[in-house]
Amino acid sequence: MKIAIIGAGNMGGAIARGLSRGTVVAPGNIWVADPSAAKLDALTRFNPAINTTTCNQTAVDAAQWVILAVKPWLVDSVAGDITIRPDHVVVSIAAGVTFDHLVGVLGDSRTIFRMIPNTAISELASMTLIASRNASPEQEQTVLSLFNELGLAMMIPESQMNAAMILTSCGIAYVLKYIHAATEAGVEMGIAPQAAMKMIAESVKGAAELILNNDTHPAIEIDKVTTPGGVTIKGLNELDHAGFSSAVIRAMKACL
Ligand SMILES: NC(=O)c1ccc[n+]([C@@H]2O[C@H](COP(=O)([O-])OP(=O)(O)OC[C@H]3O[C@@H](n4cnc5c(N)ncnc54)[C@H](OP(=O)(O)O)[C@@H]3O)[C@@H](O)[C@H]2O)c1
Repeated sequence: MKIAIIGAGNMGGAIARGLSRGTVVAPGNIWVADPSAAKLDALTRFNPAINTTTCNQTAVDAAQWVILAVKPWLVDSVAGDITIRPDHVVVSIAAGVTFDHLVGVLGDSRTIFRMIPNTAISELASMTLIASRNASPEQEQTVLSLFNELGLAMMIPESQMNAAMILTSCGIAYVLKYIHAATEAGVEMGIAPQAAMKMIAESVKGAAELILNNDTHPAIEIDKVTTPGGVTIKGLNELDHAGFSSAVIRAMKACL
């Protein structure tokens, strides 16, 4: 399969780099278009096999799948300026641009995907949300295979896109906030900031692996480290006295 990525910014660039390291699409079958020659040069320095161009149409004509990776307010003009064949599958990563809107721009009969990665896509660790319209099960499987190489991809109904994006795109900032706060605790207890940050980040990664790799629940995993009368329960109860769970729930809901 051949893929055109329109926009080589944070997301488009990370998708191109990630896909070029994967197994589903050969780097030579990736085309990236962007007005900035410097951004395109950075991509070819990363992998010389990636095709780059400043002409969106050249990239689109070379591919069967077109990923629109421009800012939401540019989707209409960028899509309007290119000729997209009826057989092109279009993937939009523009946050908040709905299928109803995309159909108005791209036509009703086309296969369209909406996709929301998070910033960990640069580390091949994105939680990528995908919704489909007019897609076959094979096309859905293809897009899942592509983006499972860049982390974990999940197909969801469009109606859940906003809430799920809060958990994954805003949520990553809340996890980073925890890492920052815990680092400050480490420093107060005499551990150098860089060392503390790595200890905490690896612990967060470990907690995530426990959940992702096992049929378990946070409460079960917490119980395993909570000795009656021990120190962990004291800290957990302090978190609850300070309203930790409530603060997390309120933070998520504040984004709605
Ligand atoms: N960043 C995130 O965490 C995140 C997460 C999920 C989804 N998204 C979505 O991803 C999309 C891209 O976001 P981003 O953060 O990657 O933005 P970005 O870094 O600004 O990247 C957009 C790229 O598109 C280029 N561009 C502008 N006009 C163009 C045109 N006519 N044709 C081709 N390329 C053009 C821009 O070039 P110039 O810089 O020269 O204008 C820029 O390189 C947005 O719709 C956003 O909603 C972002």
